[in-house]
Amino acid sequence: MNQSLLNYCLNHSSIVPDDLADMRQAIIKQFPDTAHNIISVQTGQTLAMLSQLFQPQQILEIGTYAGYSALWLTYGSKAHLTTIDRSDQGLALAQDFWRQAGVGKRITFVHHDADQALRLLIEQGKKFDCFFIDASKKNLQKHVELCLNLRTDQRCLLIIDNVLGFRDHSVVGVEHKLIDKIKGFNQWLVEQTSMIVTMLPIGDGISICTLPAVRET
Ligand SMILES: C[S@@+](CC[C@H](N)C(=O)[O-])C[C@H]1O[C@@H](n2cnc3c(N)ncnc32)[C@H](O)[C@@H]1O
Repeated sequence: MNQSLLNYCLNHSSIVPDDLADMRQAIIKQFPDTAHNIISVQTGQTLAMLSQLFQPQQILEIGTYAGYSALWLTYGSKAHLTTIDRSDQGLALAQDFWRQAGVGKRITFVHHDADQALRLLIEQGKKFDCFFIDASKKNLQKHVELCLNLRTDQRCLLIIDNVLGFRDHSVVGVEHKLIDKIKGFNQWLVEQTSMIVTMLPIGDGISICTLPAVRET
């Protein structure tokens, strides 16, 4: 979508709450070289809307960075959020804003590589009904497969970011190793008959997947 149309959409969507607008600015100021990592405002609004509608109990996020998407995810639901990142570079900023927004006690940060953290959560018997994946684009399929081992038997929601690319690289652009990985993942995901997948051109592209409740046999 071109910038003018995007601005039109943003100008005709509800105003971004102050704490989220301030957090975005603080991240850009403190991490000017990596702030492009955070989800777009529209992606945040979509995450908040989904969590408001779906009302998950336990959200699992892969890719905390400075906690911006985590704050959007907790917005509008009473869910507990567990968020994983192998780096804790942005944690202090994240925790400041989570606390100010009154959701600090509802967020658990896990400082680990996603693979290890997910396997540990499986061993511990933890269960989640909402997942947001925004970490390594190389391992999307593996991370989704591990998340499927962590799902509750109730209906679940799975959201994956960057399904249309990242920064200047797009799934319809010139060849790129990581883009090939994303394209392979998108094809695999749409072939999963256990879920309904909707890919939307919001931010860097998100796929929203709904997983029906597991029927007892
Ligand atoms: C795009 S940023 C996340 C941005 C965040 N979701 C937001 O919008 O506010 C990706 C994060 O994933 C983390 N990451 C990348 N690969 C990872 C892995 N294999 N395990 C754990 N964290 C990883 C990086 O350290 C980085 O902080």
